[in-house]
Amino acid sequence: MRLVLVGPPGSGKGTQARLLHERLGLPVFGTGDMIRDAIRRGMALGKQAEPYIAKGLLVPDQLVNELVADLFRGPHPPDQFVFDGYPRTLDQARWFDQFLAARRLPLSAAIQFAICDDEVVRRLSGRRVSPTTGAVYHVTDRPPKVPGVCDLDGTPLVQREDDREEVIRERLRGFHQNTDKLAAYYGDKGLLKVVPAVGPIDSIYLKMANQLTGRA
Ligand code: AP5
Repeated sequence: MRLVLVGPPGSGKGTQARLLHERLGLPVFGTGDMIRDAIRRGMALGKQAEPYIAKGLLVPDQLVNELVADLFRGPHPPDQFVFDGYPRTLDQARWFDQFLAARRLPLSAAIQFAICDDEVVRRLSGRRVSPTTGAVYHVTDRPPKVPGVCDLDGTPLVQREDDREEVIRERLRGFHQNTDKLAAYYGDKGLLKVVPAVGPIDSIYLKMANQLTGRA
């Protein structure tokens, strides 16, 4: 299975990608996580990307494509995968198609999670993450057992810099300008699966799984 998750910010791409990993064993690559990691480690790419992330803007295509290409350079390149948040522009999608075609690894599906902007703002402004375990919480929908600390190791939870409302709105603007177009692109190729992204996390997973197995 080779999937790309192209829903808007806060639509649950990361949450559903983790379930695909836990339940189907698929390797997951989140370009947002990879970029934040490059920033934390002080890498050159991280330094170039940081100002874009802070403002809620998309990082230039060339930098992100380079990060993705790196994943396939090692001795054991993945032949199955879930990309969370990549591609996000038509140019990234076209580049990735060519890249995969050269490796005879065609995509199985592109999943778009459908959600309205107000729900995105509500979800992201309440999101809290653990800087050590990467676990994701929500202050009301998915609170940790003890407020403000990670269930797994007790680390204080943090709010992502780009989860402030004005930055969330900018990310949504970028999504509608760029990533929205991917639905038509993948639709024309017969790869698009639209999954309603509101409701219990498990029932969204089930809808996605049914679409992937042709049972929807
Ligand atoms: P990235 O980290 O990918 O952020 P994003 O796409 O904006 O998505 P999020 O991680 O915010 O949300 P999500 O859809 O994964 O939702 P989640 O599962 O966490 O990218 C960050 C930045 O990096 C971008 O702005 C850009 O600058 C740059 N970047 C990354 N990739 C790029 C690319 N390809 N090209 C250019 N630039 C790139 O859920 C969100 C919250 O909702 C959580 O609190 C969760 O618990 C909760 N939740 C999840 N599901 C449900 C549900 N069903 N009901 C209620 N709450 C739920």
